[in-house]
Amino acid sequence: MTTTCSAPGKIYLFGEHAVVYGEPAIACAVELRTSVSAKSADAITISSDIGTTGLDFEVHPYVSFAIKKMDSPNVSIEINSDIPVGSGLGSSAAVTVATLAAINIECRLGYEKEDIARMGHEIEKEVQGAASPTDTFVSTFGGVVEIPSRKRLNLLDCGIVIGNTNKGASPKKTAKLVKQVAQLKEEYPETINPIIKTIGSFARQGEVLVSEKDYNSLGKLMNVNHGLLDALGVCTMELSVLVYAARNAGAYGAKLTGAGGDGCMVALTDSPRDVAAAIEKSGGQAIITRFTSEGVKQV
Ligand code: PMV
Repeated sequence: MTTTCSAPGKIYLFGEHAVVYGEPAIACAVELRTSVSAKSADAITISSDIGTTGLDFEVHPYVSFAIKKMDSPNVSIEINSDIPVGSGLGSSAAVTVATLAAINIECRLGYEKEDIARMGHEIEKEVQGAASPTDTFVSTFGGVVEIPSRKRLNLLDCGIVIGNTNKGASPKKTAKLVKQVAQLKEEYPETINPIIKTIGSFARQGEVLVSEKDYNSLGKLMNVNHGLLDALGVCTMELSVLVYAARNAGAYGAKLTGAGGDGCMVALTDSPRDVAAAIEKSGGQAIITRFTSEGVKQV
């Protein structure tokens, strides 16, 4: 038997960085998925775009830790992913969660989804040193989720376009940028603390706007959120070029998503093709996707 499970990536509608200081954020699963097939085998093998290895904590750290964590019999694992790696879209959480779920079913281990989310977070911490539970939670359960309450909000049905600068992809980037914001906050508390509080207010207002599917207002607040992330020093020129291209092409709103420092931006729009074309014309890689309520699932 072979078991295949897929798990989604995520974007932040509001609140990255401020969430580190206890403010609320809204994270959303998107229909970009990583598929992992697990099959009982004579020896452990892990195959991905990078190549085929055995248990290898350098080349395939997330999958290797997942195999170790589940204490499973030998399995061969095959990974296929739509999610750009190390760009703030939760690629590492998706591969971890999909691997745990596939092994769980293939080896009949009987874990629940809550266990998968918890183990996924533990693995991200082991590999990265620190990690918020957001990515693994959203990848496991899907949907539009308020952090840290984990309250599930309405699913949005407008289009999403992600613009990737294809620069600065690195799993270490988040830690560096979080530290950079912490330093700025320490140096200029009177200036930075209110910015962080204001970013938190977007998620609070966003909760109501999401339930009303008020895309115009969500877009406006995304634009303001982007401006304040820029003020925190985590934006780059390349990201802003893509953000402005998306807005000029008619998006409701656009902002960087995740830690920043290159990586990806996200736009809400009802004309995803126009927005994607504008992003490509400005030198970015555009990915048209949508919100999804489906977290990890067997396929
Ligand atoms: O770039 P990502 O997807 O790792 O998002 C980072 C989000 C931060 O708020 C900057 C950090 C965090 O752990 O919440």
